[in-house]
Amino acid sequence: MRNRMIAGNWKMNKTYDEGVVLAQGLVDELKDGTGSVDVVVCPPAIDVKGVAEVIQQANAPIAVGVQNVYWEEKGAYTGETAPDMITAVGATYCIIGHSERRGYFGETDDDINKKAKALMAHGIVPISCCGESLEVREAGKHVEFVVEQIKKDTEGLTIDDPSKYVVAYEPIWAIGTGKTATADDAEEVCGAIRKTLAEIFGQETADGIRILYGGSAKPENVGGFLEKEDVDGALVGGASLKADSFAAMVRSA
Ligand code: G3P
Repeated sequence: MRNRMIAGNWKMNKTYDEGVVLAQGLVDELKDGTGSVDVVVCPPAIDVKGVAEVIQQANAPIAVGVQNVYWEEKGAYTGETAPDMITAVGATYCIIGHSERRGYFGETDDDINKKAKALMAHGIVPISCCGESLEVREAGKHVEFVVEQIKKDTEGLTIDDPSKYVVAYEPIWAIGTGKTATADDAEEVCGAIRKTLAEIFGQETADGIRILYGGSAKPENVGGFLEKEDVDGALVGGASLKADSFAAMVRSA
């Protein structure tokens, strides 16, 4: 059986001091524990060490992640972060393949595949994002589009422990728009993702991989998504920037 997961993607929000304050707020909100729900927060890179220290000092049941990685170990890659720099500051998760990195920074499925392999070689859990544009959805091609992303993003991966690889389905047209997919929309694609993972890795592994929904998820709607068989949690943007709303989503999971 797979634990549910609520992960927060802070994106390019919260200065170092604001991140420390938010982390302390989350520690206070979740001091009674998170049950079986795995909770992850992914601050901007510059905040990670400070956020991790607050969480570690409180021994809070919250894991820390980052929002990007490069697949080389070290070298002349200005602006990039290597896998062992992530673990050195106490982070254990990494978002990859987010539509904003694909769209603004030209990241490809091949890049995402390399990042996943580098992360897993260092014991870091990828949260690998996929999702279609409104144009693709309106053309009715969204399932086949996401299935192709999954096949390319997982090419050559070995997944020994399915809890160490997470997929996030984020329809681009629902990100930051306030327009969420319906729970049935999410299940249609997440079910196809699960089926594709089973074809690649076997049903037992596929059943152990968390598939999250992202795209205007918030306390008021997350319950509807979690009722679906193949939706195991949420990757949350805006609603993760306030401790009370993010904690409310954890409690409802
Ligand atoms: O990675 C999660 C993010 O893309 C969703 O953003 O603000 O629609 O919850 P938001």
